[in-house]
Amino acid sequence: EANSIVVVGSCMIDFTSYCDRLPKEGETIHGTEFKTAFGGKGGNQCVAAAKLGGNTIFVAKVGSDSWGVQYVENLKSLKVNSKFVQVTPDSTTGIAQINVASSGANQIVIIAGANKFLNEQDVENARDVITKADVVVCQLETSPEVAVKTLELCKGTSILNGAPALSACDSKLFTLPTIFCVNESEASVFINNPVHCLKDAENAIAILLSKGCNTVIITMGSEGSLLASKSSPVPKHIPTKSVNCIDSTGAGDAFIGSLAYLIANKKEYSLEKCVQIANYVAADSVTRIGTQASFPGPEILGHCTF
Ligand code: RIB
Ligand code: NA
Repeated sequence: EANSIVVVGSCMIDFTSYCDRLPKEGETIHGTEFKTAFGGKGGNQCVAAAKLGGNTIFVAKVGSDSWGVQYVENLKSLKVNSKFVQVTPDSTTGIAQINVASSGANQIVIIAGANKFLNEQDVENARDVITKADVVVCQLETSPEVAVKTLELCKGTSILNGAPALSACDSKLFTLPTIFCVNESEASVFINNPVHCLKDAENAIAILLSKGCNTVIITMGSEGSLLASKSSPVPKHIPTKSVNCIDSTGAGDAFIGSLAYLIANKKEYSLEKCVQIANYVAADSVTRIGTQASFPGPEILGHCTF
């Protein structure tokens, strides 16, 4: 199908506690609010692209509980094609326990549940849509084998979001995707070196390119992102707009989903321009509570006049 985006990955139910600050180890603190929402990096990225108007297809597994049913209904209401979202018998839908501080900072523990059962056969079953897609997106909340198989089938542009990061992994995760995208903390795990500032991130890009990545993007929160590729190895710093951060959960997903949307639908745009707009979409998402619910619709694109 024209301009189609296939996302292969995870869905989670997010149980989020909002608190003034994040608790320390061994500490109990009072929070201020509790929210339940649809999340997971795969689902979030797919929804981010769909909300901008993207033609999206999601390949995923939910559990045989009421959360699974509700997750699929949520996807349908957001016009995501959920034909390849399967229910795994005798399993629970993935869940994420999230704490968000008033600074916008967060910490997340995920229990993969049904996401663990997404396998290479499920990818094979979606071969037809994957090979016809303009853009294919995967992450690492489902198994790395699923990501490798997906990336091998893709004939268009592929994006691997290396999240959560792996300190040791199949080198195909670097070499297969058109774009390898991580945030600073994920980059530091992949290269086994701390990444705190722009300089560190530039160094990380050089290492990731030497591991065989084709194009690397490191997202840096309020500092925007860095972009480099085999053919343009000097990292380009692409700043973002400064905003009042309310909840940064899922900002990386807003970035990846909007990048996928732009690559699939705005063929005349350079990758640098796509990253610039994706930065803007991610920044916009942190000004509102939650993940999917905070992602903007197509009107945001009219505000990106650069
Ligand atoms: O990237 C944010 C997401 O990570 C959350 O929605 C949570 O489900 C975790 O998977
Ligand atoms: Na948000």
